[in-house]
Amino acid sequence: MPQPPVYLDHAATTPVRPEVLDAMLPYLGSETFGNPSSAHRFGRAARAGVERARQQVAEALGGGAEPGQVVFTSGGTEADNLAVIGPALAVRKRDGAMAVVVSAVEHKAVLAAAHAVAELGGREIILPVTRQGIVQMDALDEALIHQPAVVSIMWVNNETGVIQPIQEIGHRCESAGVPFHTDAVQALGKIEIDVRRAGCSLLTISGHKIGAPKGIGALVVRDADMVEPIIHGGSQQAGVRPGTENVPGIIGLGLAVELAAAEQADEAARLGMLRDALVGHLRSAVSDIVVVGDGGPMAPHVLNVLIPGTDSEAMIMHLDLAGVAVSTGSACTTGAVEPSHVHTAMGISAEQAVTAIRFSLGHESSSDDIVRAADVVPGCVAKVRKLSGALGAGVARG
Ligand SMILES: Cc1ncc(COP(=O)(O)O)c(C=O)c1O
Repeated sequence: MPQPPVYLDHAATTPVRPEVLDAMLPYLGSETFGNPSSAHRFGRAARAGVERARQQVAEALGGGAEPGQVVFTSGGTEADNLAVIGPALAVRKRDGAMAVVVSAVEHKAVLAAAHAVAELGGREIILPVTRQGIVQMDALDEALIHQPAVVSIMWVNNETGVIQPIQEIGHRCESAGVPFHTDAVQALGKIEIDVRRAGCSLLTISGHKIGAPKGIGALVVRDADMVEPIIHGGSQQAGVRPGTENVPGIIGLGLAVELAAAEQADEAARLGMLRDALVGHLRSAVSDIVVVGDGGPMAPHVLNVLIPGTDSEAMIMHLDLAGVAVSTGSACTTGAVEPSHVHTAMGISAEQAVTAIRFSLGHESSSDDIVRAADVVPGCVAKVRKLSGALGAGVARG
């Protein structure tokens, strides 16, 4: 009997955990279906579930976040947009200049939101990173002189797993009196999160990276006056994010965040060992493989490698045929592989960047998955190199 495929793309999304699904079911069906804004018992039951989830999220974020500061959103993208555009609009309302500071390796949700601020007449300041992918602190200090509306720097990079020195960044922003937002979507459940110690005013999480469904996330907003809403319509969530709450999603997010925080230390150790075993296997089979961000602080679940002489799109297709699902850090536009902005910012050449593939581990990953992935990679590399050699790398890529 053929074995089920190996899923090593948890940074893209994760399956919903069975206990999370069980917790959500009463809120999806006809049992607890009320609108949490309704005053009657149906509404009150739904509201109680939402408030419990708010508490679960606040507690999981290590202190410093109050349940009333948890604003549920439709996911990480919306939370990032609210965190970047919201403070800029709040500053504009007070007749200030809208400037936002982001790093060059942010998720597109942050980069595009910063660009939207610029299009509204503000300014986007993009901080460079070192070859290890770490934000350059002197550039941050210089940007802080402009008293931006917000600085937004992610905790863990989704393509490389590189961890930013969040406490250091938070401290510098605090000293300058500038609000600090961190996108903690890939950090949650993988490294310890403490909102107060991080010194951040705003923090993004997303459900579907930790075993909750897609389409639910949250932004911790420690001071609501700092953020103007970007969605208008009702008075839910104190008007910061109006709209009838996604109650089943919120219930799922609450439990998934609680589980992720409770399991974080053990899970990080387990995933780190699996990741290291995978690196070991890959290095012994493909001697010229390069681990992106190697030697620096890395989250345990992401492994981004450059495999000289290959092509990421071709590699992913061959691995998929061999029963292993991974992803590319590169964007495939109009049929040609473009280098990822993260690799480019780290000084990796376009030629190398298009050879990148990302393995990302999660709750269901096992040592058997690692062995099976490691078994098929060398064969796929050989096939893709042969093809690239025969066609010429440029043609193979196109
Ligand atoms: C670091 C990071 N930020 C934001 C997002 C967007 O989250 P969502 O898919 O919930 O909109 C993702 C998901 O890819 C991510 O990895």
